[in-house]
Formats: sequence, structure tokens, C-alpha cells
Amino acid sequence: MFGGVHMRVRRNLELSWILLLFVALVCASVLVSRSWAQQVKAKTQSARQTKAYDRPTDPALYAGAETCKTCHEDMPSKGFYKTYEDSPHYVTMLDTKKGPEWHGCEACHGPGKEHVEGGGDKSKIFTFKNASAKEISERCLACHTYGEEHSNFARSAHLQNNVSCIDCHSSHHPKESQHLMKEKQPQLCYGCHQEAKQQFNRPFHHRVNERLVGCNDCHNPHGGFLNRQLRATSTQDTVCFKCHSDKAGPFVYEHEAVKIEGCQSCHMPHGSSNPRLLKRSQVNLVCLECHAFTTDAGPAAIPTFHNQAQKYQACTLCHVAIHGSNTSKVFFTP
Ligand code: HEC
Ligand code: HEC
Ligand code: HEC
Ligand code: HEC
Ligand code: HEC
Ligand code: HEC
Ligand code: HEC
Ligand code: HEC
Ligand code: HEC
Ligand code: HEC
Repeated sequence: MFGGVHMRVRRNLELSWILLLFVALVCASVLVSRSWAQQVKAKTQSARQTKAYDRPTDPALYAGAETCKTCHEDMPSKGFYKTYEDSPHYVTMLDTKKGPEWHGCEACHGPGKEHVEGGGDKSKIFTFKNASAKEISERCLACHTYGEEHSNFARSAHLQNNVSCIDCHSSHHPKESQHLMKEKQPQLCYGCHQEAKQQFNRPFHHRVNERLVGCNDCHNPHGGFLNRQLRATSTQDTVCFKCHSDKAGPFVYEHEAVKIEGCQSCHMPHGSSNPRLLKRSQVNLVCLECHAFTTDAGPAAIPTFHNQAQKYQACTLCHVAIHGSNTSKVFFTP
């Protein structure tokens, strides 16, 4: 009889411990994400302060787009005025409150009065032809630093490897009118990322070639704070949760592999020769990367009754809730 009471007390104690642990975990994760958010904010502010191209403001240096039109409209092979007029950049012409450095051709090509007075002197106007990636990007960033999307370009693997805005965008001759893209996706990215192309050709893959998922759903080509220019969810969690929210938890029993090492410890994010985008051809081989049969392997040891018999090879037949569970410490049930 006493035993029964004892058991119940122990159960209650256990339950309250679990509850306490859960509350502590939630608090901790809120704290972590808070400080993360603050870090991001601080970094964003400092990124905004990175210098964009300082355009001269003296109106006497500028000629105005109407003047450029007089000559450049008549160059049919180029038609630069026409392409400008049709582009989203034409809206800069309508903002009459700002100085000439914000308007028309000269917002990108810089002041052009001398070029005009020289009858089209090529040495007196900024041309994008031989400019460095940094110089080019600074010109575009004079306007495009607003928002989270582009404000980190300076720290991106792209700019750091001399890839500029106009390797992906074309101001005058875009192939895709939306976002002035030089090439449609994913071909644009494959042009430089052959390895990714091969990965998405594997039998199991995120359907990027089928245009169901885009490279930029997971990556920000303009850079960011995470490795591999990965995006995050709005709560600064792994980008995978954006679409696979059922894996996000929080679970009463987390699988540390998911929680700490991340999805990539078992999956290949682009594509794989194995079903479920797994890293290994058989599930047990995935698990055995971390779990060992020996008794002295520490906390991640597999019980000795799990011999290599067939029965135990399909680990997820029994451990079905491998991403985390609310009811089973060993992930037998969701
Ligand atoms: C008097 C006529 C004239 C006017 C006005 C004019 N340009 Fe030009 N521009 C030329 C000529 C001529 C060239 C050389 C074309 C060539 O060699 O293909 C040229 C070349 C350029 C180039 C390319 C330089 C290069 O290296 O290929 C740019 C950029 C340019 N102009 C921008 C402008 C802008 C911006 C304006 C307005 C501020 C403007 N132009 C006004 C005649 C003019
Ligand atoms: C949004 C920035 C932007 C504006 C506005 C703009 N251009 Fe350009 N222009 C570029 C870029 C970038 C290139 C390089 C080729 C490309 O990306 O299409 C270029 C290329 C050129 C060229 C060929 C020489 C070179 O630099 O490669 C000429 C000529 C030219 N632009 C003229 C003009 C004229 C004339 C106007 C106004 C009617 C104008 N541009 C407005 C960004 C701009
Ligand atoms: C590696 C390729 C790449 C580079 C480099 C790049 N972009 Fe983009 N950009 C893209 C792609 C892809 C999209 C389309 C995103 C989408 O579909 O949501 C885009 C979208 C945009 C947009 C429209 C969407 C928005 O959120 O405002 C702007 C504006 C833009 N880029 C400006 C820039 C500027 C400015 C630079 C240089 C400082 C730059 N890009 C460099 C690939 C690139
Ligand atoms: C004078 C300011 C200014 C400069 C300089 C400038 N842009 Fe823009 N850009 C704008 C405005 C304004 C728009 C239209 C409104 C918008 O979409 O944000 C725009 C639109 C765009 C878009 C299309 C956005 C969409 O959603 O379709 C792209 C891509 C882009 N710019 C890239 C560039 C690149 C690349 C450069 C440098 C070669 C550049 N811009 C230089 C102001 C500028
Ligand atoms: C489902 C999300 C997702 C999509 C879609 C995606 N990526 Fe990735 N990509 C990742 C993740 C996650 C990594 C990091 C892998 C790692 O660190 O092990 C990565 C890594 C990369 C890398 C770094 C090299 C490497 O292999 O680690 C490049 C380059 C890259 N991706 C390009 C692309 C291109 C190009 C596309 C579109 C054709 C694309 N990605 C689509 C998630 C994605
Ligand atoms: C003009 C060539 C070029 C284009 C186009 C291009 N990239 Fe890149 N990208 C590079 C280079 C160069 C690097 C740096 C070296 C590397 O990691 O491969 C890079 C790096 C990256 C990285 C970061 C890899 C890391 O190790 O941190 C990602 C992610 C990426 N690119 C995705 C994309 C996506 C998505 C697109 C299409 C929207 C794209 N790239 C288009 C040349 C390009
Ligand atoms: C933009 C949405 C999106 C993002 C972000 C995303 N996925 Fe996916 N994922 C999908 C879709 C849609 C499928 C369905 C597969 C199909 O039919 O193409 C899928 C399928 C999968 C599969 C295989 C499922 C099966 O039944 O074979 C795995 C594993 C997977 N994703 C893991 C990841 C990982 C890991 C990440 C983060 C690196 C991620 N996903 C990010 C949309 C996404
Ligand atoms: C410990 C290894 C491991 C980790 C870490 C892991 N997964 Fe999985 N995942 C698996 C296994 C094993 C399967 C196949 C399950 C089966 O055999 O039915 C799977 C299946 C999936 C599937 C397809 C079936 C389903 O349950 O929807 C998706 C989607 C998926 N994982 C997404 C993710 C995401 C997103 C993450 C990161 C949050 C992640 N996985 C982390 C091992 C893992
Ligand atoms: C990246 C390393 C890693 C991989 C891969 C991995 N695990 Fe784990 N797993 C862990 C860690 C770490 C723990 C926590 C161990 C602990 O605290 O006792 C854990 C815990 C477990 C537990 C609960 C054990 C307990 O007593 O709480 C089970 C069951 C489990 N894993 C099964 C699997 C299976 C099945 C697979 C393959 C689908 C797998 N794991 C893949 C690292 C991994
Ligand atoms: C036939 C069902 C079954 C299969 C298949 C299976 N397990 Fe288990 N596993 C169990 C049982 C039963 C337990 C003990 C549960 C308990 O302690 O309540 C267990 C416990 C575990 C534990 C926790 C050990 C601990 O000390 O808490 C790990 C880790 C584990 N299994 C890993 C694996 C791995 C890795 C595979 C694949 C190689 C696998 N299991 C395949 C049934 C299975």
C-alpha cells in the first residue's frame, strides 16, 4: 500500500521535474533568441554604416536624363534610354524632392555634364565595363541598403569573391523582367555553382529544378549572418522550419542530434542518392555515426540487445519519432 503512494509521489515528483525542466528550457530558448535578435540588430546597424558610394551633390555637375536621351536614344544597337524608361528605375525620375544625384542615368553612372560637354567623351563618365565588384556594388548600395534583404552584401561570400550586383542583375538588358534578373533561376546560380547543379540532379532532391523550391528560399544571395548565406525563420531558427514546421517542436523529449547538430547531421539539404535525403544508404548507418554498441560509449550508447540482427537495422521502425517526441524518451511514439 505504502509502495503505491510512494510510486505516485515519485511519479508526481518526476512530472514536476519534467515540467520544471520544460519551463527552464523555454525560458532559456527565449533568452537565447532575444540576445540573438539583439546581436542581429546591432550587426545590421553596423552593416548599414558601411560606406556606400558618396555621390557628389553639386547640381552644376549633372546634365539630367533628358540630355542623355538626346544622344543615347539614337543608338539603336544600345537603346539605353529606352531600356531605362521601361525599367523600375524610372521611378527615380518622379521624385522631385531629391537632388540630381538621385535621378535618372546619373544616379548610377555619376555626374555626366563633362561627358556631354566633351561630345560624349568616354573618359568623363563612369562605365561599368571595367569597374571592380566593390565599386559597382557601392553604386547600387547607395540606394539599396534599406531592409534586411540587401544590407549585408558587404559581408557576403559573393562580394568577397568579386561577385557584384550585375553578375546577377542587369539594369538595361534583363532576361527576366521581375527583379531585373540576368538569367532565370536556378540556371543563374548553376552558371557558377556546378556542384549544386549535380546535387540537385540526384534521385532524391528538393525540387529546385522543377521550380517548386528556389535557391533563395534557403539562401540569401545578398548575404547574411549565418554560414553559407543561409536564411533563418522569422524567429531566427533554422531555415528548414519555414516549410517543415512539424519538426520544430519544442518537444518534451528532444533528440539532441536535431536540436544541437541540426538537420544536416543526417540529411543532405540539396539532394541525395538515398531516400529521405539521408546522408547514408541505410538508416542504421546514419545512427551509428553517433551511437555505438559498446557499453562504454557514454550517453549515446545503444543497448546491448540491439545486435546487428536484421530486426534492429531499421531503427526508425521502432524509433519512429526520430525528430523528437512528447510522449516517449526513446522516440517510440510522437
Ligand atoms: C552629345 C551626345 C551625348 C550625350 C548628351 C551623352 N552621351 Fe554618353 N556617349 C556619347 C558617345 C558618342 C559615347 C561613345 C559611344 C560609343 O563609343 O559606343 C557615349 C558613351 C557613354 C557611355 C559608355 C562609355 C563606354 O565606356 O562605353 C556611358 C555610360 C554614357 N555615355 C552615359 C551617358 C550619360 C549618363 C549621359 C547623360 C548624363 C550621356 N551619356 C549623355 C554621347 C553622348
Ligand atoms: C540602375 C542603375 C543604372 C541606371 C539608372 C542607368 N544605367 Fe546604364 N548601366 C548600368 C549598368 C549596371 C550597366 C552595365 C551593363 C548592364 O548591367 O546592363 C550600364 C551600362 C550602360 C552603358 C554601356 C556602357 C557600360 O557602362 O557598360 C551605357 C551607354 C549606359 N549604361 C547608358 C545609360 C543611360 C543613357 C542611362 C539613362 C537613360 C542609364 N545608362 C541609366 C546601370 C544603370
Ligand atoms: C548571386 C546573385 C545576386 C547578387 C550578387 C545580387 N542579387 Fe539581388 N537578387 C538576386 C535574386 C536571385 C533575387 C530574387 C529574389 C526573389 O526572387 O525573392 C534578387 C532580388 C533583388 C531585388 C528585389 C527584391 C527585394 O527584396 O528587394 C533587389 C532590389 C536586388 N536584388 C538588388 C541587388 C543589389 C543592389 C545587389 C548588389 C548590392 C544585388 N542585388 C546582388 C540575386 C542576386
Ligand atoms: C538612385 C537610387 C538607385 C540606385 C543607384 C539603384 N537603384 Fe535599383 N531601384 C531603385 C528604386 C527606387 C527601384 C524601384 C522600387 C523598388 O523596387 O524598390 C529599384 C529597383 C531595382 C530592382 C528591381 C526590384 C524589383 O522588385 O523588381 C533591382 C533588381 C535593382 N533596383 C537593382 C539595382 C542595381 C543592380 C543597381 C546598381 C547597378 C541599382 N539597382 C541602383 C533605386 C536605385
Ligand atoms: C532546402 C534548402 C536549400 C536549398 C533549396 C538550396 N540550398 Fe544550398 N545549402 C543549404 C544548406 C543547409 C547548406 C549548408 C550545407 C552544410 O553546411 O553542410 C547549403 C550549402 C550551399 C553552398 C555551399 C557549398 C556546400 O555545398 O556546402 C552553396 C554554394 C549552395 N548551397 C548553393 C545553392 C544553390 C545554387 C541552390 C539552388 C540551385 C541552393 N543552394 C539551394 C540549403 C539549401
Ligand atoms: C558569377 C558567379 C556566381 C553566381 C551567378 C552565383 N554565385 Fe554564389 N558564389 C560565387 C562565388 C565565387 C562564391 C564564393 C566561393 C564559393 O563558396 O563557391 C559564391 C558563394 C555562394 C554561397 C556561399 C557559400 C559559402 O561557402 O559560404 C552561396 C550559398 C551561394 N553562392 C549561392 C548562390 C545562389 C543561390 C545563386 C543564385 C541566386 C548564386 N550563388 C549565384 C559565385 C556565384
Ligand atoms: C521552401 C520550403 C522548404 C524548405 C525551406 C525546406 N524544405 Fe525540405 N522539402 C520541401 C518540400 C516541398 C518537400 C517535398 C519533397 C518533394 O515532393 O519534392 C521537402 C522534402 C524534404 C525531405 C524529404 C522528404 C521525403 O519524404 O522524402 C527532407 C528530408 C527535407 N525536405 C529536409 C529539409 C531540410 C533538412 C531543410 C533545411 C536545410 C529543408 N528541408 C528545407 C520544402 C522545403
Ligand atoms: C538523427 C538524424 C536526423 C536528424 C538530425 C534529422 N532527421 Fe529528418 N529524418 C531522419 C530519418 C532517419 C528519416 C526517415 C524516417 C523514416 O525512415 O521514416 C527522416 C525523415 C525526414 C523527413 C521526411 C519524413 C517526415 O518525417 O516528414 C523530413 C521532412 C525530415 N526528416 C526533415 C528534417 C528536418 C527539417 C530536420 C531538422 C530540423 C531533420 N529532419 C533532422 C533523421 C534525421
Ligand atoms: C549526430 C549524432 C546523432 C545521430 C546521427 C543520431 N543520434 Fe540519437 N542521439 C544523439 C545524442 C547526442 C543523444 C542524447 C544522448 C543522451 O543524452 O543520452 C541521442 C539520443 C537518442 C535516443 C534517446 C536515448 C535516451 O536514452 O534518451 C534514441 C532512441 C536515439 N538517439 C536514436 C537514434 C536513432 C534511431 C538514430 C538514427 C536514425 C540516431 N539516434 C541518430 C546523437 C545522434
Ligand atoms: C525492434 C525495435 C527496435 C529497433 C529496430 C531498434 N531499437 Fe533501439 N530500442 C528499442 C527498445 C525496446 C529500447 C529500450 C527502450 C527503453 O529503454 O524503454 C531501445 C533503446 C534504444 C536507445 C536508448 C538507449 C538508452 O540507454 O536509453 C538507443 C540509443 C537506441 N535504441 C538506438 C537504436 C538504433 C541506433 C537502432 C538501429 C541500429 C535501433 N535502436 C533499432 C527497440 C528498437
